Amino acid sequence: MDSVYALALGYLLGSIPFGLILTRLFGAGDLRSIGSGSIGATNVLRTGRKGLAAATLLLDAGKGALAVWIAAQCWPHAAPLAAFGAIVGHCFPVWLGFKGGKGVATALGIALALAWPVALACAGVWLAVVAVSRISSLGGMTAALAGPLAAWALCRGELIVPLAGIALVVLWRHRANIARLRAGSEPRIGQKG
Ligand code: G3P
Repeated sequence: MDSVYALALGYLLGSIPFGLILTRLFGAGDLRSIGSGSIGATNVLRTGRKGLAAATLLLDAGKGALAVWIAAQCWPHAAPLAAFGAIVGHCFPVWLGFKGGKGVATALGIALALAWPVALACAGVWLAVVAVSRISSLGGMTAALAGPLAAWALCRGELIVPLAGIALVVLWRHRANIARLRAGSEPRIGQKG
């Protein structure tokens, strides 16, 4: 039963759509009809509200970290399942017809709670890729893929499978971004998209 509880807790926390809530609360429009339509921090930034984008980033990361932290206290062996539940909840929230965000910030929070050195490595990869490309999706996908590799390099073998699962969900949610990257039409940070 622990596994079911951990998955459910992760899903419920992950499915809180902070980007959508904040932008509605502060009159920045309906994110789903702006830019990529995603409810994540990158799309919040396209509303021109940097503070809201930063808050979305923190809260989306925070809910992932909180899900793992609570699960680790209550059902230690099921913490990776809470992590997986959180990413699925963020990307496919039942409240929004299963159309949510792309999981990058939530994955970072999850990694932070599971193993902070792994999160640091992923954040470094995100920063480096975005500094060079100015493309958030490219940074997010690369950072997600770096997760299982960093777990392996940092001798956290038990995290390779959960982080690989999370990376697959993140990649799946970036299908439209991948198509735009291939077509050379993916917007850079600062462009409306
Ligand atoms: O973190 C989300 C990012 O990777 C892509 O977002 O809105 O550009 O599709 P978006």
